[in-house]
Amino acid sequence: MAKKILIATGGGDCPGLNAVIRGIVKRAEQEGGWEVYGSIESFNGILKDVVEIEKLDSQKVAGIHVKGGTIIKTTNKGGPFYFPVKDDNGKWHFEDRSELMKKRLENMGFDAVINIGGDGSQRISLDLCKMGINVVGVPKTIDNDLACTDVTFGFQTAVQTATEAFDKLVTTASSHNRIFIMEVMGRDAGWISLYTALAGGADVCIIPEIPYDPKKLVDKINSRFINNSGFCNIVIAEGAKALDGEVTGSAPTAAGDQHIKLGGVGWKLKHELEQLGIDHDIRVMVLGHLQRGGIPVAYDRILATQFGVKAFELVKEGKFGYMVTYYHHDIHCVPLEKALEKPKLVVPETNYLVKAAKGIGIVFGD
Ligand code: F6P
Repeated sequence: MAKKILIATGGGDCPGLNAVIRGIVKRAEQEGGWEVYGSIESFNGILKDVVEIEKLDSQKVAGIHVKGGTIIKTTNKGGPFYFPVKDDNGKWHFEDRSELMKKRLENMGFDAVINIGGDGSQRISLDLCKMGINVVGVPKTIDNDLACTDVTFGFQTAVQTATEAFDKLVTTASSHNRIFIMEVMGRDAGWISLYTALAGGADVCIIPEIPYDPKKLVDKINSRFINNSGFCNIVIAEGAKALDGEVTGSAPTAAGDQHIKLGGVGWKLKHELEQLGIDHDIRVMVLGHLQRGGIPVAYDRILATQFGVKAFELVKEGKFGYMVTYYHHDIHCVPLEKALEKPKLVVPETNYLVKAAKGIGIVFGD
């Protein structure tokens, strides 16, 4: 009888997810004796009252490495330990459906689960492993903030998108003698902001790891203008905060969503600069989910394909409780506990990109 793998993609989507799915399915088919299924909308598919899973074969996954998003859908709300259920009165309550999931996997003959997701999803992987479910994790995030892996797929695509947007803002800023503040994603880590600043040639780069003092930006900004002629381009991560401040965002509104919705720090910075007497026209552009969508760049397709193949190999070897990683130009794996110890943040004091950025005059507000 064929062995069975269930794949889930969880958390925010990310360019390259489909290439991982394709890698798993193709490698499993090549091996023979394996069947692969996708749980629709992360673990919701296996947790819902009516199970929603889809068999994946090489025909289904043909060519999907080129597509953004995830063919098996995703959600960043709830999960097996906190499953949202709507009552008749329209209110939501949350149920721990982890035991139900375990039973269903057993009854349906699943031998292993491959969970492709960020830190939240990998915490779920670990908790499922502790219940005796065979889980392998695959790291995913455009923010590139997962530990033990030098890079996550989707990050390079996000940087490319952000850099192209930044380049466009440079030309219009220059035509109008304006200051442009471009807000990019990056909840806890400033990797997208830092890479975009270097690639795009920003004057100012703000990241969550360096709480900024708006006063420290004024001289740099003014130096970009002579007799009101000039322009200045700033890139800021959504999770950035001023020295004495908090992150900017709004409370989660959807059921099961436990995260504050970041966004608006670019507008906050505009206000702070105006208060400090900067009188050039300041415009703000929030790039948002554009960075998560679209076709993955070649680098991400290649990395994601390797992750998919490695995830299958781990399942085949029975090496559960591990997360696939890319480290020093090779594909490895680490125990999930280790991957979740702490996030991979920019360490400003030692990071060579921060050093290079400062070396060409990019200001961070520190
Ligand atoms: O974790 C990746 C990320 O892109 C963050 O940078 C961002 O804060 C978050 O996802 C937004 O997620 P959503 O809008 O889908 O809830």
